Amino acid sequence: MRKGEKGILVAIVVIVLVFMGINTYRHSQVAEDKGIPFYTTASTELQNKGAELLRVYQCRNCHTLWGFRNPMQSVPSPALDGIGSIRDESWLYEYLSAADPQNILPTRLKAEYQMPSYAHLPEHERRTLAAYLASLKVEDWYLDEVKRSEQEKLTGESPPEDGHE
Ligand code: HEC
Repeated sequence: MRKGEKGILVAIVVIVLVFMGINTYRHSQVAEDKGIPFYTTASTELQNKGAELLRVYQCRNCHTLWGFRNPMQSVPSPALDGIGSIRDESWLYEYLSAADPQNILPTRLKAEYQMPSYAHLPEHERRTLAAYLASLKVEDWYLDEVKRSEQEKLTGESPPEDGHE
């Protein structure tokens, strides 16, 4: 092996080692990442029924769920991910059953963007929706962030960073 070739070989070995090092480092970063904070406690049956109702009533024209919403709409409404950690099932049922949801949750949005009343839905559908929404949980460490951005969207104000309300 000539001297120049040896130099190239050493350079290749060094580059390979550096890449292996970067990869190991990145994997250890991923392991420390807390992951996706949202999950559901619903049975498969409830998940299917709930998702079907959300689809039929086009809730995702306005709301994000599992990181997805209708990209053609731009209504500034709260995400439904993790909503079951903030509201319980009976609250959700009352909210969906209210003739005027803005009596329960005041809004600053224009009328066309506001949460519509679903009081006209059959009771079993409102119950299924409430049960499904209540099953949508968020890990504690993420909840503060969700609450903060939600309050910001609803009130237009940034709450204090320290989380005291
Ligand atoms: C026209 C847009 C729109 C549609 C469609 C819509 N929502 Fe909403 N929703 C909102 C807005 C905006 C709010 C926040 C309150 C307000 O401004 O009226 C809200 C609030 C909520 C909340 C309370 C969130 C919280 O912070 O407690 C729940 C739960 C909810 N919606 C569920 C649903 C479900 C389920 C459907 C479908 C059956 C649906 N929404 C359809 C716009 C919409």
